[in-house]
Amino acid sequence: MPKTDILIVGSGISGLFFAIKTARKRPDLSICIMTKEKANNTNTQLAQGGIAVVTNQLKDSFEQHIKDTLKSGAGLCDEEIVKMVIQQAPERLEELIELGAIFDKNKEGQWDLGLEGGHSQHRILHHKDSSGLEIEKKLLSIITQTANIELLENHQVIELNTETKRNEVNCTGAFFYDKNNNAIKYIRTRAIVLSTGGCGQLFENTTNPAIATGDGIAMAARAGVEIKDMQYMQFHPTALASGNKNPLFLISEAVRGFGAYIINDEHKRFLFKYDLRGELATRDIVSRAISIEMLETQKKHVYLDCRHLDQDDFFKHFPSISAHCNAIGLYPEKDLVPIVPAAHYQCGGIKVDRNGVTTIKNLYAIGECARTGLHGKNRLASNSLLEALVFAHQASNNIDKTIAAFIFSSKILLPKFSTVNIKNNYEPYQILKKELQKLITSFYASDEHDTHLAMLKIKMLKNEAENLIDKNEITIPFIDFSNMLTTALIIIKQCQPEKEHSY
Ligand code: SIN
Repeated sequence: MPKTDILIVGSGISGLFFAIKTARKRPDLSICIMTKEKANNTNTQLAQGGIAVVTNQLKDSFEQHIKDTLKSGAGLCDEEIVKMVIQQAPERLEELIELGAIFDKNKEGQWDLGLEGGHSQHRILHHKDSSGLEIEKKLLSIITQTANIELLENHQVIELNTETKRNEVNCTGAFFYDKNNNAIKYIRTRAIVLSTGGCGQLFENTTNPAIATGDGIAMAARAGVEIKDMQYMQFHPTALASGNKNPLFLISEAVRGFGAYIINDEHKRFLFKYDLRGELATRDIVSRAISIEMLETQKKHVYLDCRHLDQDDFFKHFPSISAHCNAIGLYPEKDLVPIVPAAHYQCGGIKVDRNGVTTIKNLYAIGECARTGLHGKNRLASNSLLEALVFAHQASNNIDKTIAAFIFSSKILLPKFSTVNIKNNYEPYQILKKELQKLITSFYASDEHDTHLAMLKIKMLKNEAENLIDKNEITIPFIDFSNMLTTALIIIKQCQPEKEHSY
């Protein structure tokens, strides 16, 4: 039966940064990263904007970044966590650069700092418009060269195993599906770090890739871990409206920071009606304003107008966005770009302390799946990659204690899932997934949540999903869909006491 000192689930920025830091500090430990598809298939890879860091103390200050974060979070951030993250940012950035990540500089050799909604200063470090891709590539290349890290692609963790010792629940291993060999296995471990990302796939319009099915949230919840603030889903205002595509292509907030306008069907800017900052108000405000405008005008989208911008400069800063638009026949220098709000970031998640420790022993959560207290009701743009770095660092510093206190038990667990369905038939689940997305999208958008009805529908979808497989059988689409149902149920329940939400 396989055994590792630390199991990391997920291969985005938080999991990879944690793995590298820990592996370098503790070459005596074995570290295993499991990821359900290819390692680079992550939300990190799609992050365009960059990392918010105060790098110029003459023009900017920690205090201003803290103030912007607290304001964006609408009074629901944990101020101590906000301070910790923002004050640590320069050191973590330095480490990331040492690991090879490159960020753009201007002609004077200074950081080319971008501006995004809710920021009172230019402070976003970026690698053109593909900052996440740059980071993911550089970190993965180090991971594959690090002797005490094993990276297992196509390995989907299904369930965490817990054992109660002296009245305390301990996480001691995990069941996983080895897709390469079509087998269910169990791995014993001293500590598990969940870095499984978000749940954007629960919504009809999302910028998140197909893997974002809330796996970490669902597994942690089933293991009895506290989950918090799942009612705060962040919608990005400027996803490219392109039919029923899922995911929708993101048009970075940095484009508005660069001077693009949002206009309605009559080609009028309308955001100043809602907030004096106009296009540079925070995402919750801009997304809500666009939704109201679309409803009032009965249109399916509004537009991003880039026609007045310096085109050479635009192309230099946003080559990927330009290329994507051009490929579908849109030329931002002369065409209006149709946009809609889309589910983008889960502000809540697995409740953790300042070290990424969850409410059960030996289990950590970092990155988007964790609820750290940084974001409150609405995350400030480009604070998420930063949060991932800081909490990976905190967890890495803390894990020595966890490892030292853990002794592997001699108990050998037999897999509780006995059969594997080799066919893995995805088609019927696609239909159920669409129904679930429709349900959650309309539930979330409505002011009067009909919780009872929504729960009933979830139950019906669960029955339908279970009817698609035989007893004792488990399939990949079933695992993903079950995680989505569990996460959906948590959102529905946590929306209940809230009169308002962030959309
Ligand atoms: C964007 O580039 O607009 C996304 C950055 C983020 O989600 O913070």
